[in-house]
Amino acid sequence: MSSVVIIGAQWGDEGKGKIVNGLAGGAAMVVRFQGGANAGHTVTLDGEPIVFHLLPSGISIPGVTCVLGPGVVIDPAALVAEIDGVRARGIDVGSNFLIDVGAHMVMPYHKAVEAAEEKGRGDGAIGTTLRGIGPAYADRSAREGLPIGLLARFDEFEERARAAAARKNDILTRLHGAEAVDVDAMIEGIRRAADRLSQHLADTPPLVRETVRGGGNVIFEGAQGTLLDLSFGTYPFVTSSHTAAGGVSPGTGVPPSMIGEIIGVAKAYITRVGAGPFPTEAPDQGGATLQDRGAESGATTGRPRRCGWLDTVALKYSIEISGIGRLVVTKLDVLDVFETIPVCVAYRIDGKETTRFPRDAAELARAEPIYEAMPGWRASTADARTEGDLPAAALAYLRKIEELAGVPVAAASVGAAADAVVEFAPIL
Ligand code: IMP
Repeated sequence: MSSVVIIGAQWGDEGKGKIVNGLAGGAAMVVRFQGGANAGHTVTLDGEPIVFHLLPSGISIPGVTCVLGPGVVIDPAALVAEIDGVRARGIDVGSNFLIDVGAHMVMPYHKAVEAAEEKGRGDGAIGTTLRGIGPAYADRSAREGLPIGLLARFDEFEERARAAAARKNDILTRLHGAEAVDVDAMIEGIRRAADRLSQHLADTPPLVRETVRGGGNVIFEGAQGTLLDLSFGTYPFVTSSHTAAGGVSPGTGVPPSMIGEIIGVAKAYITRVGAGPFPTEAPDQGGATLQDRGAESGATTGRPRRCGWLDTVALKYSIEISGIGRLVVTKLDVLDVFETIPVCVAYRIDGKETTRFPRDAAELARAEPIYEAMPGWRASTADARTEGDLPAAALAYLRKIEELAGVPVAAASVGAAADAVVEFAPIL
């Protein structure tokens, strides 16, 4: 039995896509368990980037079955557009791609409601990706959602979708003073998507369990990061799904007892998109250099990412919440130019030093980082492929992360290309 969970250990954008894609060659399945088209997983294929929003990051590898599990929320039109874009790059999306019948749909009215709600929040806006994720999950919890399996019974789907849209249009127009969604156009759009997607619909949990039981490697691919988890992130500045490793079971139908190692992906520094507390944010030249060298703008929204120094208090918290056994540190090469590199080892909150990560976002907003300065290496790591290729200070930086995080670093990524990795120990 072999399965591995690859999740973000920060606020998302850690480079999970590249890591999952790199491991997928040794896997039978890659399974997404949460989130939706808010994700943007960038993979470099033949030297060109390709961004997956809904499709699992193993889709380009022949022979790997890619699954959207029941915990994912799917915008049917966005998925069809993504499939077309991916096929245009010569990637097969056929029987190798399965959508669980229980995954819920993101409807046009979810996006409209979200836009109106975000506008209404004013200065308190969360800074969501406006992909309808929160409202779709809210409807699922309120038992008003539309599982994608309904597309196989289109008449029933249409009746329920029209009723739901009428309720939302009431809210949009009367409460928010916003425009109503065109219901006929919505139904026709989804009818076209349904024709394309129905061949991929399946009851996936038994297939995933069977693969794990049969000894096939299964990768559970997380989206966003543990610090954006609905229960354990910096609420309300979170996404609406369970991004922590605990989300795998409800998001796939695979019981916890069948889930193997949990690998956390963390940048060698840290970024955040959207609002919310961020103790080590560096709104100075250092942050600007990180943003520039790391090309830190959102793969989904194009928004510039907020940049800061590695926060090991937050990292340790993610490790605890998700049971992360090993780390993959990404974008180490972005740090190549710094003379010294601050690493946050503790916070000072209300005058008291602590290594506890506050659950309360308001308390976290008061946290001042306490830094230890690590010597930089001022040399390129981009061509490093083995431990021996790394400058001594870069290796010392990784060892410091291991010491503070309390778990080993399995690999470090030093560039966008698939082979730009220094592996210390095999993952699969
Ligand atoms: P939502 O997921 O669109 O509801 O956005 C909620 C919060 O999560 C916002 O701060 C987003 O910027 C953030 N977020 C959502 N998806 C991603 C992602 O893939 N990477 C980084 N941040 C994300």
